[in-house]
Amino acid sequence: MRVRFEPFGVITQVEAGKTLLAAAIAAGVEIEAVCGGRGTCAKCKVIASGELKPLTEEEQKKLTADELQNGYRLACQAVVAGDVEVVVPEESRVSRVSILSEGTVRPFVLHPWVKRHPLQVPEATLEDQTPDLTNVRRAWEAAHHKLTPTLRALRQLPFALRDQQGNLTLIAADDQVIDVHAGDAPPRVLGVAVDIGSTTVVGYLMDLETGQQLAVSSLLNPQTRYGDDVVSRIDFATNDPTGLETLQSELIKALNTIIAETTRMAGVSAQNIYGMCLVGNTTMYHLFLGISPSALARAPYVPAVVDAMRVAAHELGLAIHPDAHVWVLPNIAGWVGADTVGVILSTGMYLQDDVALAIDIGTNGEMALGSRQRLITCSTAAGPAFEGAQLSCGMRAAGGAIDTVKIDGDVHWHAIGDSAPRGICGSGLVDLIAEMLRAGVIDSTGMMQDSETLNQNGQHKLAERIVQEGRQRVFELVRPSEGAAGRTVRVTQRDVRELQLAKGAIRAGIEILMKKLGIGPSDVKYVYLAGAFGNYIKPESALAIGLIPDFPQAQIVPVGNAAGSGAKMALLSVGARNEATEILRNVEYLELSGRPDFQEQFAEAMLF
Ligand code: FES
Repeated sequence: MRVRFEPFGVITQVEAGKTLLAAAIAAGVEIEAVCGGRGTCAKCKVIASGELKPLTEEEQKKLTADELQNGYRLACQAVVAGDVEVVVPEESRVSRVSILSEGTVRPFVLHPWVKRHPLQVPEATLEDQTPDLTNVRRAWEAAHHKLTPTLRALRQLPFALRDQQGNLTLIAADDQVIDVHAGDAPPRVLGVAVDIGSTTVVGYLMDLETGQQLAVSSLLNPQTRYGDDVVSRIDFATNDPTGLETLQSELIKALNTIIAETTRMAGVSAQNIYGMCLVGNTTMYHLFLGISPSALARAPYVPAVVDAMRVAAHELGLAIHPDAHVWVLPNIAGWVGADTVGVILSTGMYLQDDVALAIDIGTNGEMALGSRQRLITCSTAAGPAFEGAQLSCGMRAAGGAIDTVKIDGDVHWHAIGDSAPRGICGSGLVDLIAEMLRAGVIDSTGMMQDSETLNQNGQHKLAERIVQEGRQRVFELVRPSEGAAGRTVRVTQRDVRELQLAKGAIRAGIEILMKKLGIGPSDVKYVYLAGAFGNYIKPESALAIGLIPDFPQAQIVPVGNAAGSGAKMALLSVGARNEATEILRNVEYLELSGRPDFQEQFAEAMLF
């Protein structure tokens, strides 16, 4: 179903049965939801028309007779049954202050590098036979500097020039004219920002003249069928004769799907997309451009290239305007990519006087610590535990994944989509381990207690969940009667060890960065948790398992897809795009592998 959010002009597609709040989240429209959608705070009021399920009891209680008459609904309660138009009133929008306090993206000036230039060119006569391009150059150069059209734009020029008596519109990306239209067309000048993650690819369709986000769409990275982690994809690209080509074309196809989807949602033409800006890890950068990433997998882990690159869309087979400029932001090193540059850019940590730590956790934990004085980055091989992979009941953060756990005598959990649980994802695992530690089900070495010990401690319900399987203990989080299709969700002693390895690597990375910078935890003022996992993990659980140190002076800020926000900034602002290159020049990279102090810290950090 199609849901349009005004005054933003954002359109999204959702399944019937979703709430308007869920649709807003999917579309990137920020609506206040103080009670988290329980229907108690009434902060999520919107004016909705179209096909919606009838008012719920909560809405009838919380909305006044006047509001009801004027079509007000609670976004978290109103359920989509068909196409809907939604107006988000001022008071229900997340204010700029709270956006800033959440650190989602710092304010920046809209100054895109793709622009529309209307021109009035004098008509040629028998007395003045100035060639078209010279004539256009004269009109153009009065206001701008050098005019360099692409061949395609030049071929359009004679027709466009004569169609409306010299009234024409040029579309320029930086200093290159890439499109020519008669009169005022095209209706919109568009761009796409993309975050290519190892697991998901997210694309944001942006209006480059207003800065408005028109639509957002995401896909599972189709390369996952060649391996979940980047190392197996590098192997495939290196060892299969068509591996590199296959991985590149899979990615391009995914991007073309996102482009088709977002332009369809917004009702615009992909031919009006003239700029694109991408971030991703260093391996994704190489694969996107079809450059072999082989050397990244072996010491000394050298990338072929780290610089920001500009390519024409037609060279990559992207289904947008063929001469659109496609920018890939720069990488920092082999294992710290343009996605980290995006995080640094969107949080603005490289401009702040206060010391900040940014962590983006996937199969690798990429982190940056510092301020405008000095900024150091590193990457640790966190392993797959945080992405739910390779655990006995691990899964990605999808419907049915347990994402939060509470233990108070017995176990309570929540599964994504409120469905029957099918497994546990990274944030659920962190929660579970934190709660198991607190309840004494595991000790500080990570050892799971036996049921006898738990019974002696009066933890009878928890004792019933401990099962001895061969030499290892297992904790039954979800019993067959509760799980999807009679499934159990269990955490084994080995799973706990996997998490210890992962959190040990990340914690050790943070400790080494602090040591290198000569600071302690109390010097850190902001901790930015980036990425889907970082956005959903409870800071208190991350602290409880020791994933991050206790930073007594720090504000912990989940920044969501900060890498994607960085790509949007670089698309909408030439200054931000230049700053990305500036970041590359000023940031230091610390290689952790082979450092003896890293091994020591790692061994220590494995303990809870
Ligand atoms: Fe609180 Fe809707 S989010 S009532």
